[in-house]
Amino acid sequence: MDRTFAPASKPLRGTIALPGDKSLSHRAVLFAALAEGTSNLTGVLDSADVRATIGAVTALGACVELAKQVDGSLAGSVTGWGARGPAQPATPIDCGNSGTTARLLMGVLAGWPIEVTLTGDESLSKRPMRRVTDPLTAMGASFETAEGGTLPVTVRGVAGLKPFNYNSPVASAQVKTAILLAGLHAAGGVRVAEPAPSRDHTERLLPAFGVAVKVTPEHNSASLCGPQVPVATDIDVPSDPSSAAFMVAAALLVPYSAVTLLGVSLNETRIGFLRVLERMGADIEIAEAPAAGAEPIGSITARYSAGLRATTVLAEEIPSLVDEVPVLALIAAAAHGTTRFEGAGELRVKESDRLAAVEQGLTALGVTVRAGEDWLEVDGPAPFGAATLDSLGDHRLAMCWALAGVAGEKPVTVLRYDAVDVSYPRFADDLSALGA
Ligand code: S3P
Repeated sequence: MDRTFAPASKPLRGTIALPGDKSLSHRAVLFAALAEGTSNLTGVLDSADVRATIGAVTALGACVELAKQVDGSLAGSVTGWGARGPAQPATPIDCGNSGTTARLLMGVLAGWPIEVTLTGDESLSKRPMRRVTDPLTAMGASFETAEGGTLPVTVRGVAGLKPFNYNSPVASAQVKTAILLAGLHAAGGVRVAEPAPSRDHTERLLPAFGVAVKVTPEHNSASLCGPQVPVATDIDVPSDPSSAAFMVAAALLVPYSAVTLLGVSLNETRIGFLRVLERMGADIEIAEAPAAGAEPIGSITARYSAGLRATTVLAEEIPSLVDEVPVLALIAAAAHGTTRFEGAGELRVKESDRLAAVEQGLTALGVTVRAGEDWLEVDGPAPFGAATLDSLGDHRLAMCWALAGVAGEKPVTVLRYDAVDVSYPRFADDLSALGA
């Protein structure tokens, strides 16, 4: 479905509660599926990606009774397979567009003596899986992949994986989580160290399921001892900071706007974009609320910010804002000077090649932009002109280009806009509620 976004005719104003965090929703459903007993979940994001995880754990024998709530979230119970283990599914499991579903499932399945084939859509079938299958192979599982190490992947798990100490070449929470989940079935300890800290939701959430995780920040490492079975618990999922980033951008760019976002996860490993925006001179206020669970939460108020300044986003900052580079690049087009993103090569293997897509999209909007193998530069300020831009089936690009229309001077048509269903199905409704 294509959709055209017209320039906002008045300031965006209001307070909204955003949908649940995607990373935490995947983990809440998946960890509950592994656990012994019944977990009660609230605030779970209802989106295509999370539905892929729900479908997967259901096919593997978990009993998922999550129902749509008036606020659009999913709530209810998940009864896990616990010590019994997952059932052999009758057919391949379709992970849709969701890298988190595919990679985390590989870690879960590695430790059980069943054979499961994972498939995905066109985008997911191009994304690298060896970053997970290689270390899990070293632990004792076996994998059959398509040429190039991509999906479809058949996992042949084994009972009793080997203890493992892994120095990951990439800062990836998906890789780290897959290995830690496999570690639940290892005959001893597993430890993952990363070149920079990636999002730490797994380390925060597993202890709620009774699994002790040792975190050593000076080595960017996390470890746990297998074998052990997680125990059911109750989880309330906070709002998604990555979805918040788009509403923050709308408020910063549309003159005289002021928007407050409630109940957002303020996890330090996720809010690098707020630190970058503050450096650029954005008018942003963060109010921490008492933490209700494993995540710090609070509200974010963003106000229209004329006179934003360019900045350099360093390689070590990228993991804490890896999903926000496209929207930060859009904001950079409104800032004075050249904004540079360094060490951003991971963007080339996300739901699309986001460095190439941002370069093409911003160029079409009339912005001067340059991209290299792992960097991006945006010159500002430049007003956005009329354009027709393809989301490439990538949810974050769909929202980015929609904002270019709302914050620009001319309408922007987003081809395949419905990609937003992956993480923020009601994005356009929330923008309308704020006055766009
Ligand atoms: C995610 C981790 C990130 C992120 C993705 C979700 C997660 O990927 O881009 O949207 O839930 O663990 P990497 O871990 O591959 O960087």
